[in-house]
Amino acid sequence: KFEGLALTPPMGWNSWNTFATNIDEDLIKGIADAMVETGLRDAGYVYLVLDDGWMAMQRDKDGKLYGDPKKFPRGMEALGEYIHSKGLKFGIYNCAGSKTCGGYPGSRGHEFVDAQTYADWGVDFLKYDWCNTENLNAKGAYQTMRDALYAAGRPIVFSICEWGDNKPWEWGKKMGHLWRVTGDIVNCWDCELGHGTWSSWGVWKIINMRKDIRKYAGPGHWNDLDMMEVGNEFSDAENRSHFAMWSILASPLIMGNDIRSMSEETRMTLTNKEVIAVNQDSLGIQGFRYLNEHNIETWIKPLSNGDWAISFVNMNQEPFNLNFDWLKHELGDDLSQKFANLKNDLYKIRDLFNHKDLGDTSMPLKATIGVRDVLMLRLVRQ
Ligand code: DGJ
Repeated sequence: KFEGLALTPPMGWNSWNTFATNIDEDLIKGIADAMVETGLRDAGYVYLVLDDGWMAMQRDKDGKLYGDPKKFPRGMEALGEYIHSKGLKFGIYNCAGSKTCGGYPGSRGHEFVDAQTYADWGVDFLKYDWCNTENLNAKGAYQTMRDALYAAGRPIVFSICEWGDNKPWEWGKKMGHLWRVTGDIVNCWDCELGHGTWSSWGVWKIINMRKDIRKYAGPGHWNDLDMMEVGNEFSDAENRSHFAMWSILASPLIMGNDIRSMSEETRMTLTNKEVIAVNQDSLGIQGFRYLNEHNIETWIKPLSNGDWAISFVNMNQEPFNLNFDWLKHELGDDLSQKFANLKNDLYKIRDLFNHKDLGDTSMPLKATIGVRDVLMLRLVRQ
């Protein structure tokens, strides 16, 4: 029941990046409505995940969790029903420690009761955090919660939120469906933001922090690069590049912006079906950096049917004129099923953001890439 729940990277929305613990019923219903009206649900974003801050500060007299009655007066089960009525799936959050990072009651010592509560509410996705976990063994703590979910019997996607110290990629496949690989993302291109004992990381910091763990990803179990910051004060070009990278890297695509008020350009980026198809490709192989010449980050991902995705991100402060001679390249690596030898094999070229065909790989490709913009292509095997 739990296998096969995330054969491709999970897609959805999470409240944390924009709202932190300021979440309530009106907000979540508005987000559910927007997921339908903007076409996000139909593009594949089905999990609506409430992060930290949904709970009452205490458990009830039976030791069960319940929603903060001020924020969620109709209760969590009714909220789940609303979410399901929109054709969406219901995601919720807790923590392996005694308290969540926000100070709400954690699951430590209450795992089986909590799992049963979520199952009773119709929860479909659990994000499980790692604050206040003194003397806990990470692998063991996630295993306990996994066993509790199994015992409750409802298929629930299990999202491991340990930030990398305990190498969740080495054991996460047995415990859950996705695991975080770094501390929290922040909406900057390449910054590190210090908070005393911990830091949050810009988009390119996250991308470059864990380049050596791609072999751990595959159908049913994914390296989670954190909720996206697409639509959170980035330029349209930066949004496209960020989205292209999460897609190439087969990361879960969990939005973190206020989709009720996003721009049309952001909506078009997030619902771009050709880019999403790269992320959701059934081979499930995480992409990798192929080249970095002239400050053009060039990343590739093998796709089913011998196709390839390739992204050129312009890291320069001015537009770049690309002239890429395919015949000088062979795409592939030890994890790819096939190599693309572009001298022998012909591919048609599809531009995934401009939705245009650009000829084939027999001729060098010429294109101008804007500042921090991406040229993302699909090479279609002929
Ligand atoms: C830390 C996690 O990494 C974040 O994604 C978020 O869930 C917060 N905790 C909530 O307190």
